[in-house]
Amino acid sequence: MPHAPLKNDLLLRALLRKPTPRTPLWMMRQAGRYLPEYRATRAKAGSFLNLCMNPELACEVTLQPLDRYPLDAAILFSDILTIPHAMNVGLEFEAGEGPKIARPVRTPADIDRLPVPDPEGELRYVMDAVRLIRRELNGRVPLIGFAGSPWTVGTYMVEGGGTKNFSHIKGMLYGAPDQMHRLLDVITRATTAYLNAQIAAGAQAVMVFDTWGGVLAPQEYREFSLAYMARIVEGLTKETEEGRVPVILFTKGGGAWLEDMVQAGADALGVDWTTDLADARLAVRDRVALQGNLDPSVLYAPPEAIRAQVARVLESYGRGHGHVFNLGHGIHPDVNPEHAGAMIAAVHELSPQYHA
Ligand code: CP3
Repeated sequence: MPHAPLKNDLLLRALLRKPTPRTPLWMMRQAGRYLPEYRATRAKAGSFLNLCMNPELACEVTLQPLDRYPLDAAILFSDILTIPHAMNVGLEFEAGEGPKIARPVRTPADIDRLPVPDPEGELRYVMDAVRLIRRELNGRVPLIGFAGSPWTVGTYMVEGGGTKNFSHIKGMLYGAPDQMHRLLDVITRATTAYLNAQIAAGAQAVMVFDTWGGVLAPQEYREFSLAYMARIVEGLTKETEEGRVPVILFTKGGGAWLEDMVQAGADALGVDWTTDLADARLAVRDRVALQGNLDPSVLYAPPEAIRAQVARVLESYGRGHGHVFNLGHGIHPDVNPEHAGAMIAAVHELSPQYHA
């Protein structure tokens, strides 16, 4: 069945630097624990992983923030660790503790054992969720698909969970770079196939989350993170019968490397709050769109302060197209949902003047 035409295409237009009457916006982690309705659905699912693996419930939580706020995009409810999960490393999420991997990948033999999962096989539940969400959205807003960057996914696979020092993976990077490249290569092949399957299932834009690229030295960032994201961009389906499928790359802490990131061939770059959007725009010279970058902690302040900070972000990007408003990282779980509403209202109210 053909898809319903898009009623709100502001996000896709802005990602491709086409004119829009105002700045579109969505929030990283917009479906998440700050919403009571999300916590209720997760309780029904029994666990975070069950929620990800149940297409009906994943669809339900994807739509929750859209029912509450006038957002310009839906983002697939899932996680960047679905790929390692399908590679049989023994992923679990312990309540309040984050991801744990039972069999970390540390030796050449561990890397040899990793399969490239079939996106319509072991990961079919993700594609079923994409198909269902597209049907339920019925053209309301575009759906963003996503994956983690090979480097970021690799940190969880090698460390066995979250980490402060990145001791195992940096030991591998500096001590056995060939092995590091072999691991990143297999994750890259899996991720390219996975994102292309999301696009085939109906994702209208895709984003690569490089949460931990910023912990690398500049040369290592280019060799072990950016180069693999560039390979993914190169391997992606750029066009479907619905049109162009924009790609967003986001390296948290990557503000100094935006010029290098432009070379990777993405349509848009995510920027965190430690870089001024005016500086970012000078660095990319309108070759790509920019997404960001309100400090998520601004949402702890009262609505008037939130409005003033939204005004500063809009002013920093300045006049013209090619800006997608977002937080500089995921919304915090203990934020008052009304404060997110205040941010969104401020973008609607204050952004049209920059597009006149
Ligand atoms: O943005 C969205 O609404 C889409 C959903 C989404 C989730 N994870 C749901 C989630 C997206 C895009 C992600 C990406 C993700 N997952 C990243 C990259 C983006 C980022 O935030 O840096 C990373 C590093 C992960 C890995 C991950 N998943 C960690 C480290 C954790 C535990 C820490 C935490 O924030 O709880 C998760 C769990 C997770 N992923 C939750 C959600 C809503 C919370 C799980 C819960 O309900 O308890």
